[in-house]
Amino acid sequence: MSRYAPIHESSIADRNNFWLKLAEDIHWFKAPSRAIDEARPPFYQWYPDGTTNACFNALDHHVNEGRGDQHAIIYDSPVTNTQQKITYSQLLDEVSRTAGMLLEKGVTAGDRVIVYMPMIPQAVVSMLACARIGAIHSVVFGGFAANELAVRIDDCSPKLILAASCGIEPGRTVEYKPLLDKAIELASHKPQACIILQREQAQASLIDGRDYDWQQTLAKAPATECAELPANHPLYILYTSGTTGMPKGVVRDTAGGIVSLKWTMKNIYGVEPGEVYWAASDVGWVVGHSYIVYAPLFHGNTTVLYEGKPVGTPDPGAFWRVISEHNVKALFTAPTAFRAIKKEDPNGDYLKKYDISGLRSLFLAGERCDPDTLAWAQDQLGVPVIDHWWQTETGSSICANYLGIELLPVKPGSPTKPAPGYQLKVLNSDGKECSAGEIGALVAESPLPPGSFITLWNAPDRYESAYFSTFPGHYETGDAGYIDEDGYVYVMARTDDVINVAGHRLSTGAMEEVLSGHPDVAECAVMGAADELKGQLPVGLLVLNANTQKADNDICREVIQRVRDEIGPVAAFKNVVVVQRLPKTRSGKILRATMRSIADGTEWKMPATIDDPVILDEITEALAGIGYPAA
Ligand code: COA
Ligand code: AMP
Repeated sequence: MSRYAPIHESSIADRNNFWLKLAEDIHWFKAPSRAIDEARPPFYQWYPDGTTNACFNALDHHVNEGRGDQHAIIYDSPVTNTQQKITYSQLLDEVSRTAGMLLEKGVTAGDRVIVYMPMIPQAVVSMLACARIGAIHSVVFGGFAANELAVRIDDCSPKLILAASCGIEPGRTVEYKPLLDKAIELASHKPQACIILQREQAQASLIDGRDYDWQQTLAKAPATECAELPANHPLYILYTSGTTGMPKGVVRDTAGGIVSLKWTMKNIYGVEPGEVYWAASDVGWVVGHSYIVYAPLFHGNTTVLYEGKPVGTPDPGAFWRVISEHNVKALFTAPTAFRAIKKEDPNGDYLKKYDISGLRSLFLAGERCDPDTLAWAQDQLGVPVIDHWWQTETGSSICANYLGIELLPVKPGSPTKPAPGYQLKVLNSDGKECSAGEIGALVAESPLPPGSFITLWNAPDRYESAYFSTFPGHYETGDAGYIDEDGYVYVMARTDDVINVAGHRLSTGAMEEVLSGHPDVAECAVMGAADELKGQLPVGLLVLNANTQKADNDICREVIQRVRDEIGPVAAFKNVVVVQRLPKTRSGKILRATMRSIADGTEWKMPATIDDPVILDEITEALAGIGYPAA
């Protein structure tokens, strides 16, 4: 008899009681009397009459319950050769004073604060300090360019920016301050102040009257208590790529996030309070928000904050060192990290140097997990390897396997079965349900469970139109896939212009906007082509203006630099080729999917609506010139 099935069933059929019962597991200032307010779909509100605080649940609650001397954070930084262990009591003290520092700078509940920091303890401290006083944090990933930061500053209009002087990538120091100054210069909104944490690897110069030194400002700040906040008070805004250059500001509420994340730690990840849990991601991504910071702390775990890479810091044994040194019980990362390790250490020689017998499970997400990577990880580690399907919007997995309830048989290529509250369907373009095994749009019946996004910042209309309008009554995930006869879900590809590069979600539309901005480019297309290491890599095709004086190679070099300068190095935009024309349908739509199949070397059919079939021969030749399909 399955133990998972009745739990999933009651999360849908008996929604109110199910989620109210789970809510008993968190700390409330005022407990809610009901689970959901459904008055204004799709703007559902979870625990509408409760009051709570995410920071209280992450820190104060545990210190009050006697967990003060346990490590909350293990900071492990091979790129700076440092380690630091911080107890729950120490973290509470640091966060309370940082919250006091925010109050002294005039930040109050509801104000936005941008956090622009690498993987250092102060990033976690900043997020929790905001949560403590009800300020809404928006963390911006360090691999983005100044322009992306400017877009976010303008959209969420922060009162304050908390930043570090630099991040460290293998082989180079990324100075954040010049990027921050440039972003503020580009943005129309100007923050009242910036507080800068000086790292010894790069000292930032401070602008008088606007910038403040973190240590000096913090030294004068008083400790402050947690604010009692309404359950649906926004905890954070996290921007993610959509189909255009304007990212979507995903808003997470407070209580829904706490209830759902706390539940997953035991039931999905199978860890107990006190154990060490490691999500090897970045605080700038949703996985970092949920599983480096909030969930492990809500559950009383020790979270590993790793400032390094799977390879090169210093070698492909880096993950095994961290697991053995800190006795990590569960590891969560992206398949691309394992592909990188496998490429450099196919026989697992580095693994043999470490004792990782404490590790019980590996969780993978962020991109489709190819069965080869899954099999390699299973063989090497000898523990369950669990693929689970995620989105920034949902905040935790949509589909997973449930280590703490019942390990369902693993089917390679499938992230297994829906998480509580997700009633998934596969619909065809007419909105009809597909039969088992048939590919269509993956959708979830509304309402989504607690912890999923409640709106888009400044864009409630976009929230409705982008996610809830194509299939009324359903959330459109933007992923295509199928469900098999056993109810296993398979996620195959995005249905929109979003691509996934090394587990990072990027918009080809945004890259096209940058390419089109080049004065010599008449028309362009960007698509995601398969890549053995990163899953996908962007490939650009340019049609140039007839009167262009410059050589093709020069223009290609310039557009590559533009994408790096305007979107950031994380876009990994390096492959671009000039073509005479782009293939289109008779109605003028660029045939990106056909071009992608050509680049990937997969089978494709001549589209019936194509304007001029000969163009595809030209495209095949041009892509071959830059190495596609890959050997
Ligand atoms: N700040 C500044 N630059 C950054 C950055 C950051 N936080 N993160 C990445 N970059 C830069 C890199 O230095 C690189 O620059 P380069 O073009 O000058 O070399 C570029 O962005 C691309 O980075 P990345 O995609 O990380 O590729 P990589 O070749 O450096 O490393 C992997 C490849 C697979 C090792 C790496 O992508 C990885 O560890 N992935 C794990 C995935 C992950 O954490 N996903 C999060 C969701 S779970
Ligand atoms: P992000 O919002 O950055 O977490 O990216 C979400 C997208 O990543 C999803 O819409 C999927 O396209 C992809 N994705 C995440 N996890 C998986 C998975 N386990 N299998 C397939 N695709 C995934």
